[in-house]
Amino acid sequence: MQKRNILVTNALPYANGPIHIGHLVGYIQGDIWVRFQRMQGHHVHFICGSDAHGTPIMIKAQQLGMSPEQMVTEMGQQQLQDFHAFDVIFDNFYTTHSPENKALAEEIYQALVARDDIERKTIQQAFDAEKHMFLPDRFVKGTCPKCGALEQYGDNCEACGATYTPTELINPVSVLSGTTPIEKESEHLFFKLKNHQDKLRAWVTQGHLQPEVANKLLEWFDAGLQNWDISRDAPYFGFPIPGEDNKYFYVWLDAPVGYMASFKQYCESHPEINFDDYWRDDSHSELYHFIGKDIIYFHSLFWPAMLDGAGFRLPSGIYANGYLTVNGKKMSKSRGTFISAKHYLQHLEPEFLRYYYAAKLNQRIDDIDLNLEDFVARNNSDLIGKVINIASRCAGFINKRFDNKLASTLSDETVFAEFTAASNGIAELYETRQFSKLIRQVMELADRANQYIAEEQPWVQVKNPDTLAQAHKVCTLGLNCFRVIMVYLKPVLPALATKVEDFFQIEPLQWQDSQQALLNHSIETFKPLMQRITSEQIEAMQQAAVDAHAGEGIP
Ligand code: 2FM
Ligand code: ZN
Repeated sequence: MQKRNILVTNALPYANGPIHIGHLVGYIQGDIWVRFQRMQGHHVHFICGSDAHGTPIMIKAQQLGMSPEQMVTEMGQQQLQDFHAFDVIFDNFYTTHSPENKALAEEIYQALVARDDIERKTIQQAFDAEKHMFLPDRFVKGTCPKCGALEQYGDNCEACGATYTPTELINPVSVLSGTTPIEKESEHLFFKLKNHQDKLRAWVTQGHLQPEVANKLLEWFDAGLQNWDISRDAPYFGFPIPGEDNKYFYVWLDAPVGYMASFKQYCESHPEINFDDYWRDDSHSELYHFIGKDIIYFHSLFWPAMLDGAGFRLPSGIYANGYLTVNGKKMSKSRGTFISAKHYLQHLEPEFLRYYYAAKLNQRIDDIDLNLEDFVARNNSDLIGKVINIASRCAGFINKRFDNKLASTLSDETVFAEFTAASNGIAELYETRQFSKLIRQVMELADRANQYIAEEQPWVQVKNPDTLAQAHKVCTLGLNCFRVIMVYLKPVLPALATKVEDFFQIEPLQWQDSQQALLNHSIETFKPLMQRITSEQIEAMQQAAVDAHAGEGIP
């Protein structure tokens, strides 16, 4: 098989708050896909880092009484720990506030200037005269001009869904000082996206995007692309724009460049990997971005236009996931459903969340719901009741009655053949991110194995010397079915797979291992691999989440 060279990124998290279970949907999705590709033997580089710049980060650091650099570093370390705990393992985790990112952002910008892609225009913006700064839309609140709802942000109304500019709000107030913002003029730099329209239209119709996303983009093209404002005035935490006074790159200009910068830093310590092979030349490499659906616009329009303008390759795929709801509703601090990675980990095993998300995720941008009752039932029933049950029914007999050794033949080759035959179909479902569908197929296999064991009844067979040898072969088949199931689930459940590899005393499982039975082989004594989830654990986790936000007065 031809080995592919694949660069995968996950959206760079803002370095101003801890990771929560909503963020984890996309990271777990990306990590599962990467692990699957690696099991196939492909070369995969998995890249992430902190998104460091912008007004919210600057303000948050001020509130915490630290420099933005210090906050970004500390938050990045904490986020990285959370990712590790969930077995989301990046090859490199860097920051957009880095010399590599500054150099690359400047290079791209200079290339855009050179091809006349940048234009100047003076605009009116809300300005906080007390704090001496321009206010991003989210830093102005007021009454919705359409429906009259109070306390709405300057970009859209949560009550009626209207979109507008902060200047249209009734009684606008700066969230920083409480004063009424004034209107002030300022010259901004704009990226003329229209210059890239033809190239982007062709790219959009080549299958690099989910169909629903591609259709939306084509609508935008038809409506005509607006220029994109890429500059912000001081004070701003970001990179100064070369040749300009007191102007900074808007955070969304240098954020995706952070993918390149993180990879560049990685290449510095891995001389065998060539940066340009992944970013300039697209003939022997693939580039994929896993993102949330809220940032599709930036990734499928602005980012490819920037790459195109600076002579870089365009992405092979941009894969957006939907939002997470918990118990059918938006995550809420007071309901105890705004659950941070930390609070989850204090009460539950990370593997359960990975499994549940995999069981829900598909290739579309649909939102997914974490129903906590279903979460308990599904994990207990699928993982413990079905998958691990196969091993626990068979292993004890191999350990106690057959000296820890698997038989030299299987009791029924045709049953095992059903398991090996599923390999290509399941691989195709991983490749196309249809995780929920493949999980269903794997559970059908688990049901098949359990049904076979139930029919054979090895616990009866071991009692009779005439059927003892058959029991040995049945348990050997059962454990082999279990092993193949673990090959198929390993991208989702890497920690469980490691325990299973130890139990079987085998090398790390690869995809091809699904094709051969393990015979005449000594195994370890079986130990319980997972504990059932209890509703008490869920309640304790929710209580911890409520307590953590008590006193904040936020819904
Ligand atoms: O929406 C976000 O959380 C951004 N920090 C994602 C940035 S992705 C990339 F462009 F850096
Ligand atoms: Zn409204």
